[in-house]
Amino acid sequence: MSSQDIPEENLPVEQDHAHGAVKVADEENPFADPGLPPHEHRIQDIDERAAKRSERTVALLFTVSMLATVGFIASYVTIDVDQSVYVFPIGHISGLNFALGLTLGLALFTIGAGAVHWARTLMSDVEVADERHAIEATPEVKAKVLADFKQGAKESALGRRKLIRNTMFGALALFPLSGVMLLRDLGPLPGTKLRHTTWAKGKKLVNMNTGEPLRPSDVVVGSLTFAKPDGLEEHDHDFQKNIAKDALMIVRIQPGDIKDKQELDWSYQGIVAFSKICTHVGCPISLYEQQTHHVLCPCHQSTFDLADGGRVIFGPAGHALPQLQITVGEDGYLEAVGDFQEPVGPAFWERG
Ligand code: FES
Repeated sequence: MSSQDIPEENLPVEQDHAHGAVKVADEENPFADPGLPPHEHRIQDIDERAAKRSERTVALLFTVSMLATVGFIASYVTIDVDQSVYVFPIGHISGLNFALGLTLGLALFTIGAGAVHWARTLMSDVEVADERHAIEATPEVKAKVLADFKQGAKESALGRRKLIRNTMFGALALFPLSGVMLLRDLGPLPGTKLRHTTWAKGKKLVNMNTGEPLRPSDVVVGSLTFAKPDGLEEHDHDFQKNIAKDALMIVRIQPGDIKDKQELDWSYQGIVAFSKICTHVGCPISLYEQQTHHVLCPCHQSTFDLADGGRVIFGPAGHALPQLQITVGEDGYLEAVGDFQEPVGPAFWERG
C-alpha cells in the first residue's frame, strides 16, 4: 500500500517547514541548514489493520495493569505475612513481599509500556522544526500553542480510540488503590492506649538502675532517681513501648518549698514523681538542678519547675510535666495511687 492509498484521516499532519528547509549558505549564515529528513510513514499510518493491532496491544497492556493491581490487593489480603517462597536464584524470601513486588511492578510496567507503545505506533511521529524566537510569547504564539495542543489531542486519538481511552482511565484509576491498601501497614488505630500507662493503684516504684523497689529513705533531698513500674522488665516484648510512657523522675523537695498545692497532696513527705518524658517532642529528661528544682530537657532546652507542679519556665514545651500521685504501701515501699491523670509525652492532649 502506498501513501497515495492511505485514507486522509490516517495520515499525520505535516507542516510546511518540517522537511527540506534547506537554506543556502551566505556570508551571514556560513552553514547550510540541511533540514529534516523526509518523513516515513509507519505501518500503522497506512494500514488500519495494523493500527487496530496496536490499539489492541495497548489496551491489553492497560488491562494487564488493572489485573496486576487487583492481584496486588488480593495478595495483600490473602497471603500470610510469615509465608515464605523459594525464588531462584535468590532463595527463600517472604511470599507476601514477593507477590506485592511482582504485582506492583507489573502494574506500573504495563501502564508505562502501554503508553510508550501507544506513542510509538499510534500518535503522530511527524518531526517538527520550530524557529528560535523571543522568549516572551506573543499572542500569535499563544494561539499557535493552543492550536498545537488541540491538534495533539486530536492526533492522540483519545476521542476516536475509545478502547484505549477507557482501559487507560481504568488502569490509572485503579492503580492508586495499591497505595491505599498500604495505609493498613500504619497499624491499628491507637484508641485510648496513649492515654494510659502501666501505672496502676499499688504498683511499686522500682529504681531503674538497680531494679530494686524504692523506699522513702532511698530518695534523699538533692538526688534524682529514675523509676519504672514493678514487673516491667527489659526482656519483656513490649518493654520499649511501655517505658516510653512509664518512665518517672523521683526527687525529694522540702515540703515547705513545694509551691503547688496539688503537687504537695500527690507527694509523699516531699517525694514527688513526675513523668520523665518531655512534653515538647518526647525526649527523656535527665538534667536536674538541685538548688532550683528545675529539670532541663537536653533536646531543646525546655525547663520545668518540679517545685511548682512541673510548670514550663523556659523552652518550646507547651505543657507542664504530668505528675504521678504516690504513697507508701503497707510493706514500706513507694507505690502509685493510680495511673497518670493525663496523657504523658508530647502535647498529646492538643491532638484530641
Ligand atoms: S523534646 Fe524536650 S525540649 Fe524538645
